Amino acid sequence: MTTLNQSFTVDYRFDLHFTSDCFAPDHDLLAGVLAGPTPGARPARALVYLDQGVVERSPDLPRRIHAWFGVHEPRGVSLAAVPEIVAGGEEGKLDLAIVDRIGRRAAEVGLCRHSFIIIIGGGGVLDAVGFAASLIHRGVRQVRLPTTTLAQCDAGLGVKNAINACGQKNFLGTFTPPWAIINDARFLETLDARSWRAGISEAFKVAIIKDATFLTGLVEAASRLARRDPASMAWLIERCARLHLDHIANGGDPFERGSSRPLDFGHWSAHQLEILSQHRLQHGEAVAIGVALDLLYAADLGLIGQRQVLPVLDALLTCGFRLWDEVLDLRDASGRRQVLAGLVRFREHLGGDLSLAMPDGLGQRCDLHAFDEDRFERCATALRRITALHGPAARQGSAEASTPR
Ligand SMILES: NC(=O)c1ccc[n+]([C@@H]2O[C@H](COP(=O)([O-])OP(=O)(O)OC[C@H]3O[C@@H](n4cnc5c(N)ncnc54)[C@H](O)[C@@H]3O)[C@@H](O)[C@H]2O)c1
Ligand SMILES: [Zn+2]
Repeated sequence: MTTLNQSFTVDYRFDLHFTSDCFAPDHDLLAGVLAGPTPGARPARALVYLDQGVVERSPDLPRRIHAWFGVHEPRGVSLAAVPEIVAGGEEGKLDLAIVDRIGRRAAEVGLCRHSFIIIIGGGGVLDAVGFAASLIHRGVRQVRLPTTTLAQCDAGLGVKNAINACGQKNFLGTFTPPWAIINDARFLETLDARSWRAGISEAFKVAIIKDATFLTGLVEAASRLARRDPASMAWLIERCARLHLDHIANGGDPFERGSSRPLDFGHWSAHQLEILSQHRLQHGEAVAIGVALDLLYAADLGLIGQRQVLPVLDALLTCGFRLWDEVLDLRDASGRRQVLAGLVRFREHLGGDLSLAMPDGLGQRCDLHAFDEDRFERCATALRRITALHGPAARQGSAEASTPR
């Protein structure tokens, strides 16, 4: 018998830029990203995909993009075709149709491996078009312009692409780092209240398990965030983005080969709530509920104190999140809450062993390898009571009486 040992590493680098109005005619950040530092290099060709929700609120965007490429053509950047619009949100992630559509287009225009696919949209569009881009020529360079708060602080920064399939969130996907990401604050201006709020829950998620100082700042900023203060959101996005990027670069497992997903605190239930609600709940809204449930679970276990949990729940409510949804009441034939099926899926996804990220004191994380459904039931009942109360003062007083022991 002969065995040849093989081992190599691949160095990934990409930049996250923060700017505003990057399709203003004289704004040349994107030109630098596409053309690279070498003068006289081969012209960079790009296909552009736009989230329908973005275009509905900014109808002149396709024309502005076209005009921008016209201005910057001397720098060696060109459009391979007119910008195309794709369905926003989960609708674009429904099935493999997006791969077929973008693959055909790339073949028609003769897109080469060194060309770019520029993706402008929320997390749904970034995931779906990014998935297609990662398959064409086994990976065309992706430049992402996230257009929601959640995508700018989380979904747009990572190395994962996916579509929903076989009844599961993100069931088909790849690990493909982007070429670059541009967080353009101007896109956030057209978000509706729900999508503007949605990214806040991911910031709480990562702060609770990684950064107590950030969490304190988020609790203090809750009423400003509720008033849609752009400076508070810019601060949140940058802090949250830094934590996510640091985790990918320094967490030791960027492609999640191990059996835990440390940044998925609160997500085992969130993904299931999205599915149970048939995506009526947005990802960030479901994450807020999932974070609240797991915070109460951690408190019931004694990992954190009740007094630490209540201000965080209060802040999430102040930001405008609903921390209870009727799909939490759905039960299967045996009377078990259907959300608990999310645990089975999460375990399958991780490779068979359950590993749930939980706070171990605020700002720190531990992994749980067992889950007590009776404990969860107490926490769900407590969360329902907490969210039924109106007004922060009433919530605070009654919550202390109604949280689990
Ligand atoms: N790949 C990852 O690492 C990762 C991480 C977190 C979440 N996600 C995924 O991201 C998705 C959620 O993304 P999201 O919260 O960005 O929302 P979304 O993509 O679902 O978009 C929500 C809605 O906002 C619209 N929209 C987007 N930008 C807009 C703008 N600037 N103005 C007006 N409307 C706009 C969209 O058309 C859509 O209708 C989920 O599918 C989730 O699974 C992926
Ligand atoms: Zn998430």
